[in-house]
Amino acid sequence: MLIDTYGRAATDLRVSLTDRCNLRCTYCMPEEGLQWLSKSSLLTDDEIVRLVHVAVTMLGITEIRFTGGEPLLRPGLIGIVERCAALRPRPRLSLTTNGIGLRRTAQALRSAGLDRVNVSLDTLRPDVFTALTRRDRHQDVIEGLRAARDAGLTPVKVNTVLMPGLNEDEAPELLAWAVAHAYELRFIEQMPLDAQHGWKRDGMITADGILESLRTRFDLAPEGGQARGSAPAERWLVDGGPHTVGVIASVTRPFCSACDRTRLTADGQVRTCLFAREETDLRGALRSGAPDAEIARIWKAAMWGKKAGSGLDDPEFLQPQRPMSAIGG
Ligand code: 5AD
Ligand code: SF4
Repeated sequence: MLIDTYGRAATDLRVSLTDRCNLRCTYCMPEEGLQWLSKSSLLTDDEIVRLVHVAVTMLGITEIRFTGGEPLLRPGLIGIVERCAALRPRPRLSLTTNGIGLRRTAQALRSAGLDRVNVSLDTLRPDVFTALTRRDRHQDVIEGLRAARDAGLTPVKVNTVLMPGLNEDEAPELLAWAVAHAYELRFIEQMPLDAQHGWKRDGMITADGILESLRTRFDLAPEGGQARGSAPAERWLVDGGPHTVGVIASVTRPFCSACDRTRLTADGQVRTCLFAREETDLRGALRSGAPDAEIARIWKAAMWGKKAGSGLDDPEFLQPQRPMSAIGG
């Protein structure tokens, strides 16, 4: 098992498949100038499947989430999903995507064994979408969402980041829309993970602010009496249910003590936390012919060193070197 000195066990593996993206969300990437990982540093499809195999058969991982950048840009994605779905014990498989490519891939992903998707969408207004993502692709995301639901990649979750001056007033509108389309909406507090290091705690929209805004239009009651467990999202029943809305308060109500995650970057580095400043190389071991047991040992040692928390509240907090797009959500 992947346990750490604070008694947490990681059972949820986030695998970043590429650091590239076809959007340029302001809270994630700069307009231009980001250095991409080189082709030779990226794990191959075989290497990814091998690491997932080790994670599932030797390290107690039960949940695999594919992320990016934008994972639908990875040419071998369908094959990777298929091979991971064939592993025993079979892990649950999900994907975090910006939704743009889903219209043409949702059905194939479902057939390959993908269980569900999380789609990032911050606004219902095409012009605001273009301002937030610097690309005019709003309609593609809306169509992608529908395709995912029709293909049975459910529950389809929608991730929303509210940004001051852009979409901060849209929370109730987004929730009404999500309820009407049977998408499960989750608001994520903006975290200091943008490549430009432009995050400021002062300006950010907090969980409390989001809940206050939603309550102008909906009745929200804590789901299940507020037992949060390891799920980062606090979930609320909307107008008595059955629909829910989640708020992921990574900044103002961190859930580090219940964290069950381990992360793998597209170039084969283990990260113990989104905000970690250290990484542990697995690619080198893979390429020098290390057997599975050795890979598992290195991974376990990395997780044993996992810090108690993100360090966001330390006066000395420093953003990780990699932006979100090169870590994976
Ligand atoms: N803060 C919060 N969420 C972010 N995401 C990307 N960058 C940030 C950030 N700085 C979100 C994306 C996506 C998920 C992977 O993380 O919108 O939904
Ligand atoms: Fe791309 Fe996601 Fe980053 Fe937006 S947040 S630029 S969709 S990787």
